[in-house]
This record gives sequence, C-alpha cells and structure tokens, in this order.
Amino acid sequence: MPATILVGAQWGDEGKGRVADWLAKNAKMVARYAGGDNAGHTVYVGDAVFKLHLIPSGILHEQVTCVLGNGMVINPVSLVREIDELQAAGVAITPERLSLSNNAHLITPGHLALDAAAERARGAGAIGTTLRGIGPAYTDKTDRRGLRAGEMRSIEVFADRLYEHLEAANTKLVQMYGDPVDPQMSTEAYIEAAARLRPYIQDTALQINRALKDNQRVLCEGAQGTMLDVDHGDYPYVTSSSPTAGGALTGLGFGPRYVDRVVGVTKAFSTRVGAGPMPTELDGELANQLRGTGENFWDEFGTTTGRPRRVGYLDGVMLRYATQINGFSEVVLTKLDVLSGFDELPIAIGYDLNGKTLDFPPPTLAERARVQPIYRRYPGWTEDISRVRRWADLPETTRAYIDAIASVCGTPINTVSVGPERDQLVHRWVEQRTDE
Ligand code: IMP
Repeated sequence: MPATILVGAQWGDEGKGRVADWLAKNAKMVARYAGGDNAGHTVYVGDAVFKLHLIPSGILHEQVTCVLGNGMVINPVSLVREIDELQAAGVAITPERLSLSNNAHLITPGHLALDAAAERARGAGAIGTTLRGIGPAYTDKTDRRGLRAGEMRSIEVFADRLYEHLEAANTKLVQMYGDPVDPQMSTEAYIEAAARLRPYIQDTALQINRALKDNQRVLCEGAQGTMLDVDHGDYPYVTSSSPTAGGALTGLGFGPRYVDRVVGVTKAFSTRVGAGPMPTELDGELANQLRGTGENFWDEFGTTTGRPRRVGYLDGVMLRYATQINGFSEVVLTKLDVLSGFDELPIAIGYDLNGKTLDFPPPTLAERARVQPIYRRYPGWTEDISRVRRWADLPETTRAYIDAIASVCGTPINTVSVGPERDQLVHRWVEQRTDE
C-alpha cells in the first residue's frame, strides 16, 4: 500500500516543502495534487536555497519522478520560468523526470487580471489572494469553460482557444472596471510556453497508477493547508481548491486503498496570510518575536507575496479539526526552534463561545470570528535547540510541549524540525525509516 499524503494542517506555510524533501528520500514519485503558483515551498540544501512554486521539492532527489497533477492550475509561463531556474541551478529537468497532467487547468493573463479586479471589487471584504489567478482559473474549470494543459499539444487549436478565452475575459473585466488584457501579446507568450511544455504533458493518472501497482512509493505533496480548503476551511477566506487529503485522490486520479500514511504538518505556533478568522492571533512584541525581522529566509514573510504573516499561539482546536478532516496518521512539528526564549507557551485547547466550551471550530464564519481561545499554558525553554539532533537532547520542557500537542490532536508526533536546513530534523526513534 504505497501512497503517502502530505497535508498542511493550518493555513499554509507550515514547512511542507522541507518535510516533503525528507519524505522524498524514500519515494519514487512525488506528485502535487492541488493549487498552483500561489504556493511557495522553500528547500535549503547546503548553501543553496530553492524556492519552488509549482514543481514538487522531490525534484531535488535524483531517483524521483515529479508529477503536476490534474487537480492543479498551471500558469505555463511560470512553469517554464521555474524549469529554467532549476536547470540553471544544475537540477536536471527532463520529460522523464517531470510530467504535467493532460487535465490540469491553465491560468491565463485573463485569470490574473480577473483575480485583481475581483479583489478590488470586494473592497473591505477582500480575501487577500496571492493574485496568481487561482480563483478565476478554478471558476472556469467548474464552469466547464477552462483551458486544459492537453490543449497545448496542438498549437493552432490552443492559440484559437486562448484568444477566444481572453476576449471573454476582457468582456468580464470591462464589466468589473478592470484593465483588459491584450489578447495578441498574451497569446504569443503563452504559445512559446506551450511549445516548451508539450513534451512534458502526459496521462499522469495512468503513470501514477502504474507506479502504485508496481509497489513504488508515491508521495502526494499538498500545497496550502486544511483551513484554506474550499470545503473545509474558513469559507470564503479560502483558496479555490482542495488541499486536504481527499483532494489528493481526485487531484491525481487514484483510489483510496493505496494510501497507508497521511502526514500532517504544523508549525509549533500559528501563522496566516490574507484575511479571515485567526482566534489565537497575537500582536505587539510577542508577534514580532515569532515573526522575525524578515532578514532571514525563514522569517514569517510570504514566499510568494513577501507579505508579513499574521502570527499567534498554536491553535490546538484547529489542529484537532485538521486531524479529523484528513485522518492524519502522524503529525510533523516545524519551527520548534523559534519558540526558544518564551517564558510560557500557551496552546488553545478549546474555544469559548458565549460561555459555551467548544472542542471544534463552530460552523459559521461569524462564530469563528467571535470565539475566545481557552489556553493551557506550558513552560517554555531558553536553550537554543537548533543544533539538537537526538530526541533525548531536547530540553524536557520542549518534549513536554511536543507531547501536549500530540495529545491535543490525538496523533503521534515523532519528527520535529529545529531549523530550515535539511539535517535540522529530530526523530523520536533513531531507527525510524521514513517510508514505513
Ligand atoms: P488564492 O489561493 O491566491 O486565491 O488566495 C486565497 C487565500 O489563500 C489567501 O488568504 C491567500 O493568502 C491564501 N493562500 C494561498 N496560497 C497560500 C500558500 O501557499 N500559503 C499561505 N496562504 C496561501
């Protein structure tokens, strides 16, 4: 039973890229199943920093084949740019190592302009999207008007379809007081990108099912996070796809019987970009301490947008909810090193809503915005733990904090990260294999 699904347990930016990089060591295939270049995965290997938006971080492992699944939305120009950047950094990208699903939908300049116009029109209710055209591309998909990657196989047909689509987008843009796009110029850039991408387009569901039947380990790499899921997140302050574990099955095209491991990733505290409720949000000095100054790559500023992230204490209620929605078999805790120096570490173990205690988030957004976290407070630690490599060398208070989180969500935590580098992972069991 060889599929592992990796899912963000919070609002994205949990450090999934570095966890995927660890799990990819024992995988033959790494496949992304949702979202587009709204994601930003940072992987540190020695002195090199790779910022990936579309291509799974598994590409940095030679034995791995990477797949961009049908559940994704792809900006062809961004994908070509990312391929070029990786190739310039010495990473081999060939159609044998990277494939793009026939059925993935395309993001066009029309979608980018529509995303910006829709955000402007929302005014004070803006979602704070990444402006990568994600929502409009998924809207076209469900409205059955979208462009699919497979259409790039025939340049003439693609050019006509793209031109028609851009004209339709312009009609909408004019109604929304947005700036129309120039169909001629946009079509040229996209045709160039289409010609470059053609060799990578495949029936990726077939490819994945063959690998699974051959008993090869497939790692399904999620983007964004559970609370941004269009069904299960803080609707409408969500993205337009299904980043949760179920999304891996539809977003790649294989059946649930192959899945034997669902790994949730959470930071040791909370962050969020964009609008929407965040019950444990902090401001002032504590927030600055958690966020960092922005001087380091790993400080809490968006990889894709550069926006400072909202920060807060760990929300155990959300984590419990994410565990339920995804069926995590384990949780990996990231950025534990950032908590050194806090006198105490509160974890929200419940919410108070009008005097009633809740173990799970309430159903409506209005209620989610009103809940007051009920904290249980744990002692902090002062030691710098970034050099710790053995579980037993973590301070006792750190281990108690980890165990408290595991007990809040009812899931084992056997791996934590104490820094951004590849080797800054600490495993509870030294002998633990990553694929078993
Ligand atoms: P969109 O996906 O660009 O439509 O943005 C919708 C919401 O999801 C916004 O609040 C974004 O900030 C958030 N979002 C989208 N992608 C990511 C991500 O990779 N990390 C964190 N937040 C994200």
